Amino acid sequence: MYQAPKLSAANPTEFYAELAQQLEGLLFGERNWLANSANFAALLWDQMPDLNWAGFYLVEPATGDLVVGPFQGKPACARIAPGRGVCGTALSENRAQLVPDVHAFPGHIACDAASRSELVIPLMRDGTVIGVLDLDSPLPSRFTPEDQAGLERLLDMLLSSSDF
Ligand code: SME
Repeated sequence: MYQAPKLSAANPTEFYAELAQQLEGLLFGERNWLANSANFAALLWDQMPDLNWAGFYLVEPATGDLVVGPFQGKPACARIAPGRGVCGTALSENRAQLVPDVHAFPGHIACDAASRSELVIPLMRDGTVIGVLDLDSPLPSRFTPEDQAGLERLLDMLLSSSDF
């Protein structure tokens, strides 16, 4: 049973170190990608304050589009073409997008009108982008470069602990 206390770490380094420990526990003994990515989204949703969406968009090999995967939050756009919105930009540019104000991001796709800031990080597998992690917040400037670095480390753990 998952019974983690709410993290109240004083700084991002400590917060992500504790989150990494919790993730290690969740991933232990399981290599199924769908199960692990679903639990990953749920862990972030449970532990990161001020989120209104947390989850994955995964590349659909037949079309190259991003298709919604495991997530927590309100129902979201099912499909995003490369280059569209924050997620499609992260995919086509193959780099993270840290967006302090989504209203100022040309082409931002408003799945939830409450979203004010967003962080999208590509998932790399054997040199190709296989999807993105997408986090949304109702607060402007919710995400920092420390969040990005901490989450990239957690994503490395997820990818190396899962079979595709
Ligand atoms: N805002 C995203 C779309 C996905 S939802 O936020 C869940 C974007 O512009 O790509």
